[in-house]
Amino acid sequence: MTAENHDIVRAAYDVIADEYLRRVAVVRESEGVRVQVKSLIDEIRERVPHGGRAIDLGCGAGMPFTASLAEHFDVTGVDFSGRQIELAQKNVPGASFVQSDMTQVEFPDGEADVVTAFFSIIHVHRDLHAMLYQSIAAWLKPGGVFAASLGKRGKAEDWEDDWFGARMFWSYHEPDVALEQISNAGMRVERSWHETVEAGIDGLPETFFWVVASKA
Ligand SMILES: C[S@@+](CC[C@H](N)C(=O)[O-])C[C@H]1O[C@@H](n2cnc3c(N)ncnc32)[C@H](O)[C@@H]1O
Repeated sequence: MTAENHDIVRAAYDVIADEYLRRVAVVRESEGVRVQVKSLIDEIRERVPHGGRAIDLGCGAGMPFTASLAEHFDVTGVDFSGRQIELAQKNVPGASFVQSDMTQVEFPDGEADVVTAFFSIIHVHRDLHAMLYQSIAAWLKPGGVFAASLGKRGKAEDWEDDWFGARMFWSYHEPDVALEQISNAGMRVERSWHETVEAGIDGLPETFFWVVASKA
């Protein structure tokens, strides 16, 4: 069932990638989101040396986050949508990209200084989150940073039949459970907070649960 749900998400992003990028360009430029993510990426840049290894999970079309990370780091973007990867390669020629499900992709242990997942783990079935956090912790060097936006509340399956033209699936744990899973994977949660933007991707207020953690 989880594989089937992921197939639906991948097929949806193949269809909506261009429209999503058009909307993201507007939303991500809005003051709230721009300031929020810029300050998070600035924080990561201050902690991790220039040229460090970063992995951006669910990188989408690469704009603006993969691009921003690529100004400082040697970035690999991971996304299972072929169209998103095509757009990302065009938008961020300085980064490398892997087309893969983030729950199946492999990286060497202890290789990464940074792992980010912006608005992407929300599409991974929550039964796989604990295992994904274990993989992220394994990829990180000691002291490496993990930053992600997660669901604001718990729901095993959240569906929309027509999300910008495609059927879409989301899945989230309660924030407390997510924090416990991240800690159990061997990462120390440094900061976590709910943040609402006035106009999200569909023009309505949107709240996400943000986490910054580091490999113990
Ligand atoms: C909402 S978009 C976010 C894109 C980008 N991180 C951003 O913040 O603009 C979610 C992205 O995650 C990707 N994604 C969702 N589930 C995934 C999975 N299991 N493995 C790899 N990519 C996934 C989708 O294809 C999509 O490009």
